[in-house]
Amino acid sequence: MKLTIIGSGYVGLTTGACFAEVGHHVVCVDNDPKKVETLLAGQIPIYEPGLEAMVKKNVAAKRLRFTTSTEEGVDHGEVLFIAVPTPPQPDGSVDLSFIEKVAREISQYLGSYRVIVDKSTVPVKTGDRVAQTIRRYAKPGVEFDVVSNPEFLREGSAVADLMKPDRIVIGGNSDRALALMQKVYEPFVSPVLVTDINSAELIKHAANSFLALKISYINALSEICETSGADVLKVAEGIGADKRIGRDFLNAGLGYGGSCFPKDIAAFIAISEQMGIPFNLLKEVQRINKRQLDRFLDSIREALWVLKDKKLAVWGIAFKPNTDDVRSSVAADLVEKLVAEGANVSVYDPKAMEKAQGLAFADKITFATSALEAARGTEALIIATEWAEFASVDLAELREVMRTPLIFDGRNLIDPVAAADFGFQYRGIGRGAIEARS
Ligand code: UDX
Repeated sequence: MKLTIIGSGYVGLTTGACFAEVGHHVVCVDNDPKKVETLLAGQIPIYEPGLEAMVKKNVAAKRLRFTTSTEEGVDHGEVLFIAVPTPPQPDGSVDLSFIEKVAREISQYLGSYRVIVDKSTVPVKTGDRVAQTIRRYAKPGVEFDVVSNPEFLREGSAVADLMKPDRIVIGGNSDRALALMQKVYEPFVSPVLVTDINSAELIKHAANSFLALKISYINALSEICETSGADVLKVAEGIGADKRIGRDFLNAGLGYGGSCFPKDIAAFIAISEQMGIPFNLLKEVQRINKRQLDRFLDSIREALWVLKDKKLAVWGIAFKPNTDDVRSSVAADLVEKLVAEGANVSVYDPKAMEKAQGLAFADKITFATSALEAARGTEALIIATEWAEFASVDLAELREVMRTPLIFDGRNLIDPVAAADFGFQYRGIGRGAIEARS
């Protein structure tokens, strides 16, 4: 099929590449000429495992191309996917101006029948607004349908998530549009759930909020574990073994960050408030999430007494492993706060060093070339992102390079008993403090 993706960011680019991979002919539109130039030169502006090879392969096979022209995109695609940003406004509600602008642009070029798909995460009822806008600005009598088709991809495994999603949600009110959408997804072997537009839109916010709720649930438990002497990892294992609950997203830590969860939870709260039915449970989810970092910082302050002029290593600055994304990263917030209190912080992240250079406090931190280099001569090590390589660190070597042996493990990566055996004083999340044994 001929498909068009408008907006070539994380979601748009990955979606476009995966559609091309299964045999569709895809045009990706972006209004940033520099980004399009980069993509045309075969470079990918983001780090996403498997994406670069997939883009190159499909560009070479002439199934994927890039343009700045919306007109070209509308002309090409039987189905037009809108994948532009939906950033948060100061009050948490969603800024829909990019969606509205694209809807107007599309309407300008609409000739024959097109399906217009909301791929971006949008508040329930946005589909109605997009349809209304297109009807208002398009030539009279032009035929089109609007469909909601939310994405559930995770950064770092976006390609795999898109090639084999747990489910594909298609929300629409027209049989003609739904038939075309089924054809789009025919090559994918995942279950398809067809709903009305409102339900599809709601599913996205409800899914992300539920996952955030799971994280805050275990994080709230982590505080109870610390006070009662229980081990949150064992508790997570014990409750996660119940199939109805599941072990995923029960890792206690510094809380969730990234470009989706914080924004989507705030948006869902705003949406519910606009409807006059405030979703207060989600406010508690937010409060617990913020409290995890505050509590962690308190435990660092308590152990080190004074932070000013202390040499500290922070491992991880990305908002989670397998990505170079530092947007709304709790690890970055942590470093910013340590720096503000006068600590000398050296940072190492396996992939996010370049992106971290763009952070507001970048000139106030040292960028190390390896995890051990970051730890050299420091008085404490803080683990902020759950990269696998940090879990397999050689504790003997780490002990060697550090000035004083303190580990604050914000992601429960290190075995506390092993750390104690190597002479470290260890603090994890929800596991209590462990004193060094030698
Ligand atoms: C998320 C959703 O998973 C995805 O379905 C949606 O489309 C977009 O938002 P993503 O933002 O890429 O994807 O990150 P995810 O892997 O879900 O992790 C989000 C945050 O939660 C990270 O900061 C991570 O460190 C944290 N997290 C995750 C925990 O603290 N504990 C956990 O158990 C799981």
